[in-house]
Amino acid sequence: MHEATRIVHAGRDPKEQGWMVNPPIYQSSTIVFPTLKDLIYAERGYSNNDLVEPYELKYGRYGTQTNFALERAIAEIDGGYNSFVTASGAAAINTALVAFLKQGDHMLLVDNVYSPTRSFADKFLKKLGIETTYYDPKIGEDIKKLIKKNTKVIFLESPGSLSFEIQDVPAICKVAKKMGVVTIIDNSWASGIYFKPLEHGVDVVVTALTKYINGHSDVMMGSITVQEKHFRVMYEAFRYMAVTATPFSSYMVQRGMRTTKIRMDHCFKSALELAQWLEARPEVEKVLYPALESDENHKLWKRDFTGAAGLFTIILDRKYSNESLARMVDKLHYYAMGYSWGGYESLILPIDPSGVRSITKWAHSNKTCLRINVGLEDIQDLKDDLEAGFKRLRK
Ligand SMILES: Cc1ncc(COP(=O)(O)O)c(C=O)c1O
Repeated sequence: MHEATRIVHAGRDPKEQGWMVNPPIYQSSTIVFPTLKDLIYAERGYSNNDLVEPYELKYGRYGTQTNFALERAIAEIDGGYNSFVTASGAAAINTALVAFLKQGDHMLLVDNVYSPTRSFADKFLKKLGIETTYYDPKIGEDIKKLIKKNTKVIFLESPGSLSFEIQDVPAICKVAKKMGVVTIIDNSWASGIYFKPLEHGVDVVVTALTKYINGHSDVMMGSITVQEKHFRVMYEAFRYMAVTATPFSSYMVQRGMRTTKIRMDHCFKSALELAQWLEARPEVEKVLYPALESDENHKLWKRDFTGAAGLFTIILDRKYSNESLARMVDKLHYYAMGYSWGGYESLILPIDPSGVRSITKWAHSNKTCLRINVGLEDIQDLKDDLEAGFKRLRK
């Protein structure tokens, strides 16, 4: 089955849904059990995770059939045994981390990681007695030099969502497997459409469904996909962290998800055209986008990915004052300033990654950097808007 077909059909079966095309919204706190036998069967998992199966209906806090339909779909897209859907992407990341880490453990965390993941490690996990060492996103198999006796997790994000370095995921996972370390990846950029981490040796995939899978900038959700080997440890963390998404959000994400492939294909095509156009502009020194042949990550991206998200960063030719930058960005028609991405609308965000890395140097601190999320608008309008913006910037 091809990706576009899978995403249309995954997780739904009209004959199981009263012949509705979409899985209905089952909105409930209480699930009732028709017999004592059913109740006793449902309770067995509370005391013994080994007996639990995926998608068991027990109590609203662990999800209803609406959540399960989405979980089945995401598991199918990621190619995993099962998936858990959570109330945000950050909830998925943090739950996956606490599932595998305990007091006295050590984690390796990529230096260009999404900054709330960094602060979760530096502040919250540290408080629990879990130590973090940062590693260079370009490390590859040299990760073995950083693995200690108590290293339990290697956390990857590829590419990083500000600076877009692609990691050598298979090389890192090969070392991790050999040394018995669990690998967790934040795969939000490719969203399971353009990169399949489980096929490259990763153990746990987390995705901010908030981004491309929902794609309409109106729902926050995340997912954690695992293979059978890790199902029970993840189930336990998911249950105790109580981070389940609402059935309504799960329904909304399924609605958005059906068009993810065609939206992402469109964004990829437009983003590549816009990135190439930007590369040739005098105001732009460099474009950080692995899909560009000129990008130093292009070879790795081409080897492992089947496409690219519409999110990249441009480095301008100099540091512009806030006053000049405001002249550009305040009057853009189609690019709003906002933190999220992966929606249908274009965004622009001034960024400075130097403050959110600790062991690798951000080489462009003396230049203005802008992160662009390319949406579904007409590409000519997107170019014209930026062109007019650059004119105002240089005025
Ligand atoms: C790379 C990355 N991972 C995870 C998240 C977290 O997702 P959420 O905002 O749904 O918590 C974000 C959000 O911006 C992100 O950019």
